[in-house]
Amino acid sequence: MANCDSCPSKDGCNKDSCMVENNPLNQVKNIIAVMSGKGGVGKSTISSLIACELKNRGYKVGILDADITGSSIPRLFGMSNRTLEITEDGIYPAQSVTGVYVMSMNLLTEYEEQAVVWRGPLIAGAVKQFWTDVIWGDLDYLIVDMPPGTGDVPLTVMQSIPVTGIVMISTPQNLVSMIVSKAVDMARKMNVKVLGVIENMSYITCPECNKKIEVFGENAAQRAAQKIGIDLLGELPLDNDLMELSDEGRVELFGKMKEDFKSIVDEIINKMNK
Ligand SMILES: Nc1ncnc2c1ncn2[C@@H]1O[C@H](COP(=O)(O)OP(=O)(O)OP(=O)(O)O)[C@@H](O)[C@H]1O
Ligand SMILES: [Mg+2]
Repeated sequence: MANCDSCPSKDGCNKDSCMVENNPLNQVKNIIAVMSGKGGVGKSTISSLIACELKNRGYKVGILDADITGSSIPRLFGMSNRTLEITEDGIYPAQSVTGVYVMSMNLLTEYEEQAVVWRGPLIAGAVKQFWTDVIWGDLDYLIVDMPPGTGDVPLTVMQSIPVTGIVMISTPQNLVSMIVSKAVDMARKMNVKVLGVIENMSYITCPECNKKIEVFGENAAQRAAQKIGIDLLGELPLDNDLMELSDEGRVELFGKMKEDFKSIVDEIINKMNK
């Protein structure tokens, strides 16, 4: 079912046979994978916020939760108990309150805490099916939230989904930037464009005077990005409201970092069009 007509990479692709299967019912214009190599740095949170900002701009947006064993997107959007419409043509993704389409393993399990105890090949197969068997329809942007690491799933995503570009997420520790470098290395080996890095939990804002407190030193994010060898797309502070709203399943209501997100999304779009 290799169908180049509905492939987001069709205009820039020079491979004769890339082996990517595209569902003819889907016309997805851009695919952004959010990756890190490291766990718990904010990939799912930032995937959701990027999706919300793009949705706010009037685009049709979906999130493919590629973290099969640790799905968190439905929780962030408060949609864990949604049921999916499954037809002969495929699976229809669920829709969040503001209309972001979501496909996640947690929408298929009976209850949120149910563990998915699968070996690698089965997990990779599910990720592939989230691309081929889900009816995304016409989407301007599909965000792929990756699990931590550089293992089976990121490999499957890079091989089986025509990713337009990868956004890396880092936090200001040396160990994290070292691990992010591995993820960058993997993307380069797989010939997938790396758009840049977002440094999350980069600083805190003083609740009394709103002053930016750069716990890790001035321009630390820029230095870290240089070390990793990619562009800095932006920095985000450690923010208690973000954590609380995410925990409550109301990430869509988070409006505090609007300006930061606007400029990050502008950068992402710029880099994708280059
Ligand atoms: N900027 C931030 N400010 C405050 N809390 C944050 C921020 N970013 C993420 N968090 C919190 O940190 C935790 C981990 O975030 P998240 O689940 O997005 O990370 P992840 O990289 O997707 O993790 P995993 O590797 O397990 O998939 C969550 O509780 C989230 O609410
Ligand atoms: Mg996650």
